[in-house]
Amino acid sequence: MPCPSRSDELVFFVNGRKVIERNADPEVTLLSFLRKNLRLTGTKYACGRGGCGACTVMVSKRDPTSQEIRHFSVTACLVPICSLYGAAVTTVEGVGSMKTRLHPVQERIAKSHGTQCGFCTPGMVMSMYTLLRNHPQPSEEQLLEALGGNLCRCTGYRPILASGKTFCLESNGCQQKGTGKCCLDLGENDSSSLGRKSDICTELFVKEEFQPLDPTQELIFPPELLRMTENPEKRTLTFHGERVTWISPGTFKDLLELKAKHPEAPLILGNTSLGPAMRSKGCLHPILLSPARISELNVVSKTNDGLTIGAGCSLAQVKDILAERVSELPEEKTQTYRALLKHLKSLASQQIRNMASLGGHIISRHSYSDLNPILAVGNATLNLTSEEGTRRIPLSEHFLAGLASADLKPEEILESVYIPHSQKWEFVSAFRQAQCQQNALPDVNAGMRVLFKEGTDIIEDLSITYGGVGAATVSAHKSCQQLLGRQWDELMLDEACRRLLDEVSLPGWAPGGRVEFKRTLVVSFFFKFYLQVLQELKKLIKPFPVPNSRRYPEISDRFLSALEDFPGTVPQGVQRYQSVDSHQPLQDPVGRPVMHLSGLKHATGEAEFCDDIPMVDKELCMALVTSTRAYAKIISIDLSEALEIPGVVDVITAKDIPGTNGTEDDKLLAVDEVLCVGQIICAVVAETDVQAKRAIEKIKITYEELEPIIFTIKDAIKHNSFLCPEKKLEQGNIEEAFEKVDQIVEGEVHVGGQEHFYMETQRVLVIPKTEDKELDIYVSTQDPAHVQKTVSSTLNIPINRITCHVKRVGGGFGGKIGRPAVFGAIAAVGALKTGHPIRLVLDREDDMLITGGRHPLFGKYKVGFMNNGRIKALDIECFINGGCTLDDSELVTEFLILKLENAYKIRNLRFRGRACLTNLPSNTAFRGFGFPQGTLVTESCITAVAAKCGLPPEKIREKNMYRTVDKTIYKQAFNPESLVRCWNECLDASSFHNRRKQVEEFNKKNYWKKRGIAVIPMKFSVGFAATSYHQAAALVHIYTDGSVLVTHGGNELGQGIHTKMLQVASRELKIPMSHLHICETSTAMVPNTIATAASVGADINGKAVQNACQILLKRLEPIIKKNPEGTWEEWIEAAFEQRISLSATGYFRGYKAFMDWEKGEGDPFPYYVYGAACSEVEIDCLTGAHKKIRTDIVMDACCSLNPAIDIGQIEGAFIQGMGLYTTEELKYSPEGVLYSRGPDEYKIPTISDVPEEFNVSLLPSSQTPLTIYSSKGLGESGMFLGSSVFFAITDAVAAARKERDIAEDFTVKSPATPEWVRMACADRFTEMIPRDDPKTFKPWSITVA
Ligand SMILES: Cc1cc2nc3c(=O)[nH]c(=O)nc-3n(C[C@H](O)[C@H](O)[C@H](O)COP(=O)(O)OP(=O)(O)OC[C@H]3O[C@@H](n4cnc5c(N)ncnc54)[C@H](O)[C@@H]3O)c2cc1C
Ligand code: FES
Ligand code: FES
Repeated sequence: MPCPSRSDELVFFVNGRKVIERNADPEVTLLSFLRKNLRLTGTKYACGRGGCGACTVMVSKRDPTSQEIRHFSVTACLVPICSLYGAAVTTVEGVGSMKTRLHPVQERIAKSHGTQCGFCTPGMVMSMYTLLRNHPQPSEEQLLEALGGNLCRCTGYRPILASGKTFCLESNGCQQKGTGKCCLDLGENDSSSLGRKSDICTELFVKEEFQPLDPTQELIFPPELLRMTENPEKRTLTFHGERVTWISPGTFKDLLELKAKHPEAPLILGNTSLGPAMRSKGCLHPILLSPARISELNVVSKTNDGLTIGAGCSLAQVKDILAERVSELPEEKTQTYRALLKHLKSLASQQIRNMASLGGHIISRHSYSDLNPILAVGNATLNLTSEEGTRRIPLSEHFLAGLASADLKPEEILESVYIPHSQKWEFVSAFRQAQCQQNALPDVNAGMRVLFKEGTDIIEDLSITYGGVGAATVSAHKSCQQLLGRQWDELMLDEACRRLLDEVSLPGWAPGGRVEFKRTLVVSFFFKFYLQVLQELKKLIKPFPVPNSRRYPEISDRFLSALEDFPGTVPQGVQRYQSVDSHQPLQDPVGRPVMHLSGLKHATGEAEFCDDIPMVDKELCMALVTSTRAYAKIISIDLSEALEIPGVVDVITAKDIPGTNGTEDDKLLAVDEVLCVGQIICAVVAETDVQAKRAIEKIKITYEELEPIIFTIKDAIKHNSFLCPEKKLEQGNIEEAFEKVDQIVEGEVHVGGQEHFYMETQRVLVIPKTEDKELDIYVSTQDPAHVQKTVSSTLNIPINRITCHVKRVGGGFGGKIGRPAVFGAIAAVGALKTGHPIRLVLDREDDMLITGGRHPLFGKYKVGFMNNGRIKALDIECFINGGCTLDDSELVTEFLILKLENAYKIRNLRFRGRACLTNLPSNTAFRGFGFPQGTLVTESCITAVAAKCGLPPEKIREKNMYRTVDKTIYKQAFNPESLVRCWNECLDASSFHNRRKQVEEFNKKNYWKKRGIAVIPMKFSVGFAATSYHQAAALVHIYTDGSVLVTHGGNELGQGIHTKMLQVASRELKIPMSHLHICETSTAMVPNTIATAASVGADINGKAVQNACQILLKRLEPIIKKNPEGTWEEWIEAAFEQRISLSATGYFRGYKAFMDWEKGEGDPFPYYVYGAACSEVEIDCLTGAHKKIRTDIVMDACCSLNPAIDIGQIEGAFIQGMGLYTTEELKYSPEGVLYSRGPDEYKIPTISDVPEEFNVSLLPSSQTPLTIYSSKGLGESGMFLGSSVFFAITDAVAAARKERDIAEDFTVKSPATPEWVRMACADRFTEMIPRDDPKTFKPWSITVA
């Protein structure tokens, strides 16, 4: 079969336009092709691994068998362009645009406030759009499924779902609690004042304004492609790239011939297994065989005894095929199919299921495979074909273990898979536990099947396989054999558990860690299977009476709760806020839920982010070389091989820095030694990013290890390794108070760190100008002035030559305050040295490795209290893991200590904090700045007091809460009235006391599932503890046509600051927002700005904008007075004629704020934000999983500038906080290497993590005179309220422990992952697992908190 040496033309369509690629490179992905070749930058890069959905596009293909056109969503980062022959691709630009016509999906997501930073929005739009192409009126479940693979770090998903629901069949009004009733009609159930007030609004957008969905308006499938499929090309197509050749045969015969000729060449189907391996493990396959055009691999045939599915079918198609079969056949025949369907619902995302093939899934034999364990127990067989002929092999344990005797031969391909029907007296089940319910690889999964002798409970056949507990799927064959002939009873259960643990053994050091948890799941799953089968047996036995039926053990009703899984439920909820005064002019937008200024542009992909800026002349790319050692001397750096790679221009090292290389303790580029894995050593500059990354692999660095290497807080304390002196606050007489209390409790709390996971990774474009050493820097930062200053000192040129531009930032959360300056400065050195513009875009892996995040914390407390719950003395000592440089660690320690008291008045207090110096990447600012970690210690301490007093925690909280005007521990006076109101409103709105009773009732009735409920108060201080950090400036120009350009010192991070600034300017100038515009934040327009952080961005910049507008209006006053009936445009024209300056600088000198640490006194914060949150959860004691039943938040936003934006901030922060406290877990190797460097290993909340009922209310009628229009900054505070979920989980765990008679005081550890929950709910299964002596092995990961 000929394999031509010339490349064929690759033909496909993008947005209705034909693309002919004459030199298609198989290594080029669709994402890169769209962004670089076609300049369609709406499709975003955020992870490159198929795990985030930011790059979602729709692919349409005609099915060669059914002739139907299939539309499916894919992640473009995993799609090789060569796989697109004959396909039509639709990107966000093809869906609609601001220039032509907005698509209803785009309009609705923007107007429903479903965009904040907007980086995830095009992906969301494409997932929703594809759903609507297939189902114009989808169900809410379909919507949830379609969006399950799209991550959003800003919004908390609720508004995105709200926009999608407007297309759903059942969408109806505000959907209060899923009843379809409007919340305004609420009756007796809602006793809170929030529910009763007539000036309370619950609509954040007007649904009636939306244009209808008209499917006839969609792009048609290109007729040319239709013709191509009618007369399919039978010729083999070949695409030669630089390193890889793609061969796509047109016939099955040719495929077999090619496979015989290139037995080592993999078949490439979905590329979801090969792609990530080629990327992360650097595997290179010089030849790839694509069977995409071979219809024989897509054949499905049904027989009387089973189902044969073509190996080329996608997992999404397999799901549909199985669902159809399940609906056609009696239940007893579809046990295996239903088990497969169960896992197909949670396996990866819709996009991955659309791409991944059944054959690829089976052949990849990932140890975590969700389908292989079920196929194995279901006795599936593999139909193999080669030029030699066909044969069948069982999908057995030997095949799964990769034994050559049971495997495919290199020249064979998997043609199809045969899955037999199950039979009567046979039961098949599937189990799976992951860090979160959806879109997460499983920790452990299992397939289990039992066949009984007809009419009995005697085991005739048994198969059990597990995934995630070894290098491959593991079969418990021996155990199963030993149990044959046994009765299905408790004795068998006990023996089975012992045997399973023996056979499926997992060493203490096993890769992936979580060893004891996994061992426990091995038996917990079997217990669930035991109960399920028992239930089914009982049902079977009724119509089939056998003499010894008494033998079936009864399952107590309390145990039945073990059987149910948590179903995916579509969240519902209400958002309440106070409407504006009816006398407020219509033109005045302040207080109204105005859409984010960039909302529509986010939705069409037209909003330009840093890396969307078109390539500039002579631009080069940069990639960073980082340390692989935690603490070592650099002995040598050999660049020679790297410099020889074609396209490589230079390697930038510390020697190239003309000015200062950072500070003595915090270098931009390492010089003689490295302090952590991930420290930047040098940077490669090359013509393309691919070349730069390839060169990195060729740089050889030799090290000499240094000592001591410290990673954990415990070791830092041992070595006295700290970054700064201890911070301390004290009041009253703590020692004396401890003497007089009824009880004292001491405890420890561990809070893990958190990755910012902004969707847009760090990026910068530095453009050197030809004159006077000027530089233009486009950078994704919260603090452009800091980038500017750092570049100035690094290059040794004055600040005035450098202009930093920030159009918008794809999420920051504190992670883009300090670090962007480092990347900006290194790129600037590269630009100076080479004379070329430099673009530096961090991969997700590098971003997570290098940049650090939230400080892990270890806290110790000692609390003295009376038996009635009154706390008399509290002593807390906290240590945070600062990493290898100071960064913001001292400030974080200070804030942590200042905020530790939270909402409580305790007379005798001592708070101490220290930042540890360790050999980890430096930790930095993160939303909440120490408060979310520290206050978890305080609240845990309250819970411990409650347990000792035998009172519910909310009683202790209430008893010790600030009630009247008072002073904080640092003597700042404040009025807690709004705090108390939030607390009471939250108790009311959530019907807390009733629900507490219901939770107790539920817990009495259920042994394996427990519910927990918690309500948490919050006093959050905003701002920096220094007046100079509260200054802000603005520049407002009025042009002669009356249009106004506003510039201010804040950066648009997604928090809607620009929208709020225009609302302020609109009110002040009394003109509609349509007259106003903000272009960007630029250091040339507003100099010496402060980082947009600490929740005060809109406050202080709003004051500056107000000031500038007032100055301008004052200048215009005489003109307006003279012609009061005139128009704005006429006044401006007159002002110009009269030579009145139409440009003004506004300035705000800042709130007073200071702190005297010597005296422990000050007025460090301008004001407080108060709030309260109540959450209820249910946990599965056998697996550690949880579902969030309901959350109610009441927040004191005073007079919100924009309730849609403020509610968005609260919800987004809450969900981010929930992630911190429940799923986001950073894992480090014992050598200090961060394992969790992508969305696969690090789980931020997904859309299915939103509480089933999620209500947010802004406290009405609250005022604060200090701030702009009496508003409050709400950027960070909601984060801590996520802890209500954590405390609800610990409440449920405590209930389980109480019932099992285990000590109620357990060490609090955040995040409360399934692993923690399962192991805390100790029972006979946790007792039976083998435990290892930690001294006898090196663990896979270490705990750094
Ligand atoms: C983000 C993400 C999340 C995921 N989550 C999960 C999850 O939760 N659970 C889970 O189980 N899996 C998960 N996966 C893995 C996924 O199921 C597999 O990657 C996928 O099924 C592989 O199919 P593919 O068509 O993409 O294979 P490819 O990557 O195209 O090929 C994989 C291998 O299979 C071989 N191959 C393919 N077809 C044949 C054939 N017909 N004959 C012979 N050899 C063949 C190829 O030679 C190649 O070596 C996830 C993957 C990603 C990217
Ligand atoms: S960038 Fe493609 S899925 Fe994340
Ligand atoms: S709006 Fe979704 S990631 Fe920012």
